[in-house]
Amino acid sequence: MPATQGFTLGWDIGAPSGLGIASGLPQARVLAGRLTGEMNDNLHQLRCFGCGVRIRGDQAGSIFRCKDCGDLFEVEYPGWDLAGGGKGRPNTDRPNAGALKWLWRERRASGELLDRSGVWRFREVLPILDSFGNAVTLQEGNTPLYHLRRAAKALGVDQIYAKHQGMNPTGSFKDTGMTSALSVAKERGYEWVACASTGNTSAAMAAYAARAGLKSLVLIPQGKIAWGKLAQSMDYGAVTCQLQTDFDGCVKVLSTIVQEAPIYLLNSVNPYRLEGQKTPALEIAEYFDWSVPEHIIVPGGNLANSAALGKGLREMKALGLISRMPKISVIQAAGANPLVRSFLKDDGKTIEPVTANTRATAIRIGNPASWRKAARVIHETGGWCLDVSEAEIAVAKAELGREGIGSEPASAVTLAGLKKLVADGRVAPSDTVVLLLTGHTLKDSDYTIDFHRGTLLEAEEAAPLAPEIAALRRNAVEVEATPQAVLATLKEIQSRWV
Ligand code: F0G
Repeated sequence: MPATQGFTLGWDIGAPSGLGIASGLPQARVLAGRLTGEMNDNLHQLRCFGCGVRIRGDQAGSIFRCKDCGDLFEVEYPGWDLAGGGKGRPNTDRPNAGALKWLWRERRASGELLDRSGVWRFREVLPILDSFGNAVTLQEGNTPLYHLRRAAKALGVDQIYAKHQGMNPTGSFKDTGMTSALSVAKERGYEWVACASTGNTSAAMAAYAARAGLKSLVLIPQGKIAWGKLAQSMDYGAVTCQLQTDFDGCVKVLSTIVQEAPIYLLNSVNPYRLEGQKTPALEIAEYFDWSVPEHIIVPGGNLANSAALGKGLREMKALGLISRMPKISVIQAAGANPLVRSFLKDDGKTIEPVTANTRATAIRIGNPASWRKAARVIHETGGWCLDVSEAEIAVAKAELGREGIGSEPASAVTLAGLKKLVADGRVAPSDTVVLLLTGHTLKDSDYTIDFHRGTLLEAEEAAPLAPEIAALRRNAVEVEATPQAVLATLKEIQSRWV
């Protein structure tokens, strides 16, 4: 069954009355659609995060900066009337929280393509397409939430979970945002899409573009992304350009290109990316039966993910799906920490770009686009922004590995950051904490192998955590092909464990 039909069924018949989902912007088109019996699923407009100016979604084209003040846009849904209803205007368009919870749970048992996506299952809270039938999906989302027993025991905080976004179709959290933004590109008739990337956005974009039959252009910093990610971009048929610059340099080049060519920009300045990326927050809330954990901890690079999760939680609270927001903390690598510096300097009011350097290449970003959105989320939730060293990242990654939870280094900053928050007394033993793991371990196996071989860190970097590193390293050994030799090796290695 085509996705369009699947969607229409889920929306029209599956939804109990009171959902109020068939109106909003653009009002005229929706009303016309109603009269003629057509459906239009689009309820959104764009609002500038800086000056508050509002435009229609399609007015932004491929340039996602406000003409007046240069800030980024945010998707908003005026029909929801989150402010509580205008003068004499009833809140009839606002989705009903109880009905949504019911509908979303029902869809988990559905075989329809859109219902099987962990993003589009929640489509009532991302009505960004004229027709949900245009959604390009690889059945992203629905990622596991693992209880981290070893970390819980080591830190004295019972309830530590990892929401593993690396278990998405291309191995990173980017898929949730790519399904939403690339669907917009397709619906608006673009032939080409493009992004600058540290590797995961490009992998996701290339895959979704291939599914949609669109062409894609990838700009990546030469020699500074993990091989697994580069391979994906090639595999999915993107035009892949390695530029002699860093991520921030790639962004600069691309922002000029999209002004000159009809190419749709899929970096996270594109506000539709954030609409998909907010859905893991819904999954987390749903997992905890709509009571939320005390704390969600995310890595910070270009800072769209923290912004997206915060937006998701803010909207959930406004719609009455949850009763409070968890703290959201953002952790950066010490070598790529412009937001941490900003918080130290003036509490997140201004930012100075830095020259970024970290082996967690996914977050090797010195001039993050969404920093103001992320700073707002940290402020409004009472979270924190900290940084962690290269050795702390490596140890945290190996510790997660020991729990059977592989992740790429950028994801492990969350556990490294949690350790600091616990040590400072900012996370209490009774708190429930969710770490957002953003990428799959196989994205960057060189990093893992270098760690276990002992070639990852310089001696002075490793020194403060030398005992932990020694205990975690499990280098592969070359052994003669006989049972005796293998057993002798086993005995020798085991004797070193005690
Ligand atoms: N973790 C991973 C694995 C990432 O790939 C990224 C960003 C982040 C964390 C940071 O998320 O930028 O929203 O703060 N990767 C981008 C890319 C920049 O191009 O793949 P953020």
